[in-house]
Amino acid sequence: MSAVLGAAWALLSAAFLSALLLLRCAPERPPGGGFGVVFGIFQDLIRYGKTKRGCGQRPAWLRLLQVPKRWFTHFYVVSVLWNGFLLIWLFRAEFLGESLPSWIQPMHRALGRDSRSEGTDSESFSALLVLLLLWLHSCRRLAECLWTSVFSSGVIHVVQYCFGIVYYIAVGSTVLCQVPANVRNGKELSVQISWYHVVGVVMYIWASLHQHRCLVILANLRRSKSGKVVSLSHSVPFGDWFERVSCPHYFAELLIYVSMAITLGFHNVTWWCVVMYVLFNQALAAVLCHEFYQKNFSSYPKHRKALIPFIF
Ligand SMILES: NC(=O)c1ccc[n+]([C@@H]2O[C@H](COP(=O)([O-])OP(=O)(O)OC[C@H]3O[C@@H](n4cnc5c(N)ncnc54)[C@H](OP(=O)(O)O)[C@@H]3O)[C@@H](O)[C@H]2O)c1
Repeated sequence: MSAVLGAAWALLSAAFLSALLLLRCAPERPPGGGFGVVFGIFQDLIRYGKTKRGCGQRPAWLRLLQVPKRWFTHFYVVSVLWNGFLLIWLFRAEFLGESLPSWIQPMHRALGRDSRSEGTDSESFSALLVLLLLWLHSCRRLAECLWTSVFSSGVIHVVQYCFGIVYYIAVGSTVLCQVPANVRNGKELSVQISWYHVVGVVMYIWASLHQHRCLVILANLRRSKSGKVVSLSHSVPFGDWFERVSCPHYFAELLIYVSMAITLGFHNVTWWCVVMYVLFNQALAAVLCHEFYQKNFSSYPKHRKALIPFIF
């Protein structure tokens, strides 16, 4: 049944890839008639924050369905709580031999690995480590939303907001479902560190450091040297990975999820489907952001790519 989970993530990544391709074919100006309404809804659902501003005057009824972009903070509150609970339960199951809570067991049985396939201690430890990395990532992002980033009056669609909440619950649950069934049944483990755990964690730290630096660079565009917020406008960022791409924090996000795939031992197809989803989701946002910079700043550095240095 783990295949169902992989298929769901693959379907989601296909949806974002389709949106990316549709965006490439979409006309610059909204077409007339019924197509105009569909065009407006499509643009409204894929854009948020500064890239929503560039798509012209939106009808009043569409503006009713928006919430402040600073509510991104709520995603990380939910993630810290939900994935924190999962982490505690998994730790207790793996090291104290306790069973997973009864209400989680049906989900684990339905979407987790086949009950007949016994996992190794190293595999179970990998899942615990990835859940820990995901939780730490959410804690850092929550702290950045609260104390680093300077938000403007940008907005997101209420559908994007609900999607973001569900996403962080789904992603942690996906990690939990990668735990072998024998852990669910209360088998105690010993810690088995493998070479891919070390590679994954080193890559995770490296990507997280760069993501944090890039978010600090964005925040500093709006602060004075003393740290006081002096502007809420958008300007061109420079420094660190911004020298290569318009959205290095999105690129770092992709690397963080790749580092988790490595920590799971490279072979976890379900997690690679999650990585695909992050790739297409961040690629869509990066293309819109790249276009925003190119349209609004005539001297925008020509050599910068949108998301992946030298490639895209
Ligand atoms: N895993 C996922 O599915 C997923 C999905 C989305 C985001 N994320 C991650 O969440 C993080 C934040 O994403 P985001 O889309 O919110 O990033 P973002 O649009 O670049 O915004 C980040 C912060 O920088 C500000 N900002 C952006 N461009 C600026 C500019 N040119 N000048 C001055 N300030 C600027 C924003 O203010 P405003 O209020 O003006 O926008 C906001 O406070 C990223 O690291 C991303 O990878 C992950």
